[in-house]
Amino acid sequence: MQAQFITLDGIDGAGKSTNLTVIRNWFETRNLPVLFTREPGGTPVGEALREILLNPATQAGLRTETLMMFAARCQHIESVIAPALSGGVNVVSDRFTDATFAYQGGGRGVPLADIAALENWVQGGLRPDLTILLDVPLEVSMERISRNREKDRFEQEEAAFFTRVRDVYLSRAAAAPERYAVIDSNREREAVRQSIESALNQHFGF
Ligand code: TMP
Repeated sequence: MQAQFITLDGIDGAGKSTNLTVIRNWFETRNLPVLFTREPGGTPVGEALREILLNPATQAGLRTETLMMFAARCQHIESVIAPALSGGVNVVSDRFTDATFAYQGGGRGVPLADIAALENWVQGGLRPDLTILLDVPLEVSMERISRNREKDRFEQEEAAFFTRVRDVYLSRAAAAPERYAVIDSNREREAVRQSIESALNQHFGF
């Protein structure tokens, strides 16, 4: 099997950090080569753009924001993701282009067709082999975000924004069920862990 490109995504407060550890342990236990990375970020240019993008003081229009996400992604693909995959190393990215469709498309209102055009331009044929989509009801997401002492630029958005973000994630997953494992993350940690592990087992044929 070729090296796999796996992404983890979902609305803020869906439990990505906790479940990244689950994924990390899964790869470690099986001794599979893997590189963990994140978006926006993953390279010096990407991390610099992340600072700008998440800073509540940043004032950027919706297209500027979208282009910055793709600029970070372009560098990330060219210098990290593509070389790892072609060297036989699996890649797990904490967020990827689904987040642009959901946040800039759903949340901000950038036409999804424009995002799809940038996706084709920047990524060529590269798409995740599997996207683990963590899903929680809006109230859970909002409650978890409210616990953060310092909210980033996206976490400061109102509930209606996150409703639109979540809707886009779920509709994308429904439209391509072979690529997505939608995980109900509003359960006991242990149950969520089992669901993620079984999605990985199924994808890798274990
Ligand atoms: P996180 O590391 O906590 O997930 O924060 C990243 C934030 O950036 C999160 O609120 C989602 C947002 N984001 C976008 O709006 N578009 C994107 O394309 C990506 C990758 C992230």
